[in-house]
Amino acid sequence: MAFVRYIYVKNNMTAEKLLESLNFAGNFTKFPKEVGAILPSSSFASLAMLQGIDWHNLKSIAEYGCGTGAFTRDIALRMHSQTKLIGIEINKNFYQKLKNEFDVSPDFQRVNLYHDSVENIGQICEKENIRYLDCVVSGLPWTFFSKELQTNILQKTLEVMHSESRFIAIAYLHGIITPASKHFIRLLRTYFKNVEFSKIVWRNVPPARVITCKNPKTFN
Ligand SMILES: C[S@@+](CC[C@H](N)C(=O)[O-])C[C@H]1O[C@@H](n2cnc3c(N)ncnc32)[C@H](O)[C@@H]1O
Repeated sequence: MAFVRYIYVKNNMTAEKLLESLNFAGNFTKFPKEVGAILPSSSFASLAMLQGIDWHNLKSIAEYGCGTGAFTRDIALRMHSQTKLIGIEINKNFYQKLKNEFDVSPDFQRVNLYHDSVENIGQICEKENIRYLDCVVSGLPWTFFSKELQTNILQKTLEVMHSESRFIAIAYLHGIITPASKHFIRLLRTYFKNVEFSKIVWRNVPPARVITCKNPKTFN
């Protein structure tokens, strides 16, 4: 009986994941430059993104581009009871699905989701009564963004960071030699004293590296 139940639960989970992946791929075909990847990030990518976070001292964290929630769920489950998570997602379908799931789950009560562009991070922080974010986790497809958009988002982000804030971004391997990617890395080196790259996470589609940026140079 336990075995049947195990198979049932396991299959259900697989079906959910499959549906999530199909939905993600469908949105990628509609909005390729915004979504930027054909599948949601893997648990391996999520682990690489979140492993360096100082959860104990984390009061406020924002996630840029939640998608179907690959990082959002892991952040929400790992953060302590006093931490607030703001998730920002521009795609209405992703936002609505995630909101429906989070609104009914007791695990995700301290997560506030916004259907908005991360360019409005300043106003969103004001609404949330947050002066500084301790950490920003970005799933955005930076290499599909114009130089102006990259600069605008990073400058707005720096306005809500303090000297110890961290910025953690996923960077897909296929984009790494493009001019947009080189521009993004140059910007990160301009705005942060410390920019580190993880090993390649091969068990992700597409393979990716994690960029961790510390010590913002211009902060409020
Ligand atoms: C590569 S997907 C990553 C999704 C998810 N974090 C993951 O790892 O599976 C990028 C996400 O960023 C969102 N996005 C793109 N531009 C955005 C913007 N300006 N503001 C908020 N979200 C944005 C897309 O809609 C998409 O969900």
